[in-house]
Amino acid sequence: MDKFVIHGGKNLSGTITVGGAKNASLALMPATLLAPGVHTLYNTPQLRDVNTMSRLLESMGVTIAHRDHTIAIDSSHVKNYEAPYEHVKKMRASIYVLGPLVARYGQAHVSLPGGCAWGPRPVNLHIEGLRKLGAEIELDGGYIYAKAKRLKGARIVFDVSSVGATGNVMMAAVLAKGTTVLDNAAMEPEITALAEFLVRMGARIHGIGSNHLEIEGVDSLHPAEFTNIPDRIEAGTFLVAAALAGKKGLKVRVQACTPGHLSAVTTKLEDAGARVTLGIDYVEIEPPEEIRSVNVTTSIYSGFPTDMQAQWMALMSLAKGTSVITDTIYHDRFMHVPELIRLGANITVKENIATIVGVPKLKGAKVMSTDLRASASLILAGLVAEGTSEVLRVYHLDRGYEHIEKKLSSLGADIQRVSGEEF
Ligand code: EPZ
Repeated sequence: MDKFVIHGGKNLSGTITVGGAKNASLALMPATLLAPGVHTLYNTPQLRDVNTMSRLLESMGVTIAHRDHTIAIDSSHVKNYEAPYEHVKKMRASIYVLGPLVARYGQAHVSLPGGCAWGPRPVNLHIEGLRKLGAEIELDGGYIYAKAKRLKGARIVFDVSSVGATGNVMMAAVLAKGTTVLDNAAMEPEITALAEFLVRMGARIHGIGSNHLEIEGVDSLHPAEFTNIPDRIEAGTFLVAAALAGKKGLKVRVQACTPGHLSAVTTKLEDAGARVTLGIDYVEIEPPEEIRSVNVTTSIYSGFPTDMQAQWMALMSLAKGTSVITDTIYHDRFMHVPELIRLGANITVKENIATIVGVPKLKGAKVMSTDLRASASLILAGLVAEGTSEVLRVYHLDRGYEHIEKKLSSLGADIQRVSGEEF
């Protein structure tokens, strides 16, 4: 397992380029199960999670060719409808194959995802949605067994706005007989991208970008090409890094991103004292002289994303004054807190609310990655901690950030990846 060794105190400046959105790719790839033939997905990030999805699809008989950031996927010869525990336990998004398999092949055996670093992550909305479309679903031995002759359009109101359930049910509904209406659907840009790809494949979806989707089922779909959207969380992570480890007068430009997908984060960065300039496809930031404490409450899009909560906490650790971070999406997504405290942060958590009392400095230490975004927050803290920090088990980071150490080094950070066994 690899670790990162970071010598803190270097100021960041320069330009980095954002990659394709991980959480869009993880939906676009299984969507290709809906139509035989060769689909081409451009701007696909080279990440562990993308590789995990590739291996899962290949285990079903899908052929995938990777060329740089382009992948060609052909689901003409799918031979099994299984998503075994071995795959799903590595990545919860594997469940995205459920909807397309039932829609195209009338059956699916998909392992229930286990827990993850923080708390239970149920899939009841996925199952209830597919049942509403007429799928017969049984849970047995940790697996979801689903079958349906032909799914039928239905009216579905999600109790909770769920990215994954919206994606799964939408992918099932596009081949159902009749019209499906989804209310309280997720509006995240990754779901909008998925809907646009499905339309390219011949699906009929109205209300894209809203939380009310109307899907007229069609009898078949055809392969399509699609350019993935930029990763708004990668972009946000680098902007927070710049606010934390930058220096007044030095600028960092995050290019090849979609500023409109980031407005909750850029607004909060301005509240924290940063100067932010929004371009067509870039965001430029000049860090604050003194970080102001700013409260954040995560919410569904277009509110402040839960996937930026840990990174924001790293920034608030050095803010002047006290800030409060409330995560309304995941009430226990705080595995990064004890590790940030090891670096000298002053944070207390009660239920889903973290209170951060800003400290004048952080001090380097060995810290442990527990999950993707927690790891990112530890890297950011290490950039400004005095002395040397070691972030262990960075395979968590490799799930969602392509060469993060190279991109940070290009901005002036002193960060090295060290390979080894026992970390
Ligand atoms: C997606 O996960 C993202 N992953 C997550 O990003 C992100 O944190 C999350 O959306 C919220 O934005 C991918 O897109 C691959 P949800 P997902 O269903 O779809 C509850 C990262 O770091 N819920 O929108 O699993 C759930 O418990 C990852 O890139 C149910 O109750 O999230 C949560 O409270 C981490 N029942 C809320 O909905 C269900 O059936 C939102 O979850 C499904 C979800």
